[in-house]
Amino acid sequence: MSDVNQPEAPLHCDDPRLAAALQYVLENSGKKLRARLVMASYHMLCEGADDAAASAATAIEWLHTYSLVHDDLPAMDDDALRRGKPTVHTVYDEATAILIGDGLQAAAFSLISEDERLASGTRLKLITLIANAVGFNGMVGGQALDMAAQGKASTFEQLRLIHEQKTGALFRAAVLSGAVCANATEQDIQRLDQFASTIGLAFQVADDILDVTENSATLGKTAGKDIAVEKSTYVSCLGLEEAQNEAERLLDEAMTCLNPYGDRAQPLVDLAIAMVRRKH
Ligand code: IPE
Ligand code: IPE
Ligand code: MG
Ligand code: MG
Ligand code: MG
Repeated sequence: MSDVNQPEAPLHCDDPRLAAALQYVLENSGKKLRARLVMASYHMLCEGADDAAASAATAIEWLHTYSLVHDDLPAMDDDALRRGKPTVHTVYDEATAILIGDGLQAAAFSLISEDERLASGTRLKLITLIANAVGFNGMVGGQALDMAAQGKASTFEQLRLIHEQKTGALFRAAVLSGAVCANATEQDIQRLDQFASTIGLAFQVADDILDVTENSATLGKTAGKDIAVEKSTYVSCLGLEEAQNEAERLLDEAMTCLNPYGDRAQPLVDLAIAMVRRKH
């Protein structure tokens, strides 16, 4: 895949400090799971050129990156390490980190709306899908529930809702964006919706597990953070072993949704496994 963080028209801003911070954030990309899901879902359903899904893949990675920059702010998780490097607000300052997130969010939607390779109806569908995923009933809403649950015991149902919104919603939008770019049928959309919702939840369960099983050097972010701030996680709710069983159960359930696609689903299956059985 081409560099989804740096598409043909790179982001520009006049303020040198903001520009430097932007470069700092974009040159240190993570695993790009969401972009890879967009492309894998798109290519499973059609044989078109990468171009048709490229802007959705980039936009979703920018939105994800914005969410991490804000997630690490002192007012949220107050983290000093991200993707193996000091967080943006520690290298620059909080105002710059807030503006980086704000700007990446706006840029993500501009990128799709201005992509003339896509029919205008497709652009509108993508923008609606992705905007809902990151808004008050998706990532942002989930982040609020997550913050509110800190220091309290959550029920399994409450925790599931937090994970589905804060993390699962954007994964769902990634898989469905690939399907939208491929002009998928309603049946394909339904199957992929089920796959994506399940694997998105499994991903956050794995994130909760890694927080207690791996160290900061491996993770590239602060390990043990959830316990330190008494965060409700699948591990605190179910215990480590049950959380691991639940992640595997969700992985199985997700992969079953892809059975109708046979070998064409292999890249999505590989990604699903990587999302759950990862080390960082
Ligand atoms: C980390 O996501 C944030 C969560 C939603 C738990 P990733 O593990 O996909 O982060 P990067 O992009 O690879 O750094
Ligand atoms: C972050 O969840 C979810 C979003 C950024 C939307 P976490 O707070 O668990 O992510 P990490 O562990 O800091 O990557
Ligand atoms: Mg957080
Ligand atoms: Mg965090
Ligand atoms: Mg975490």
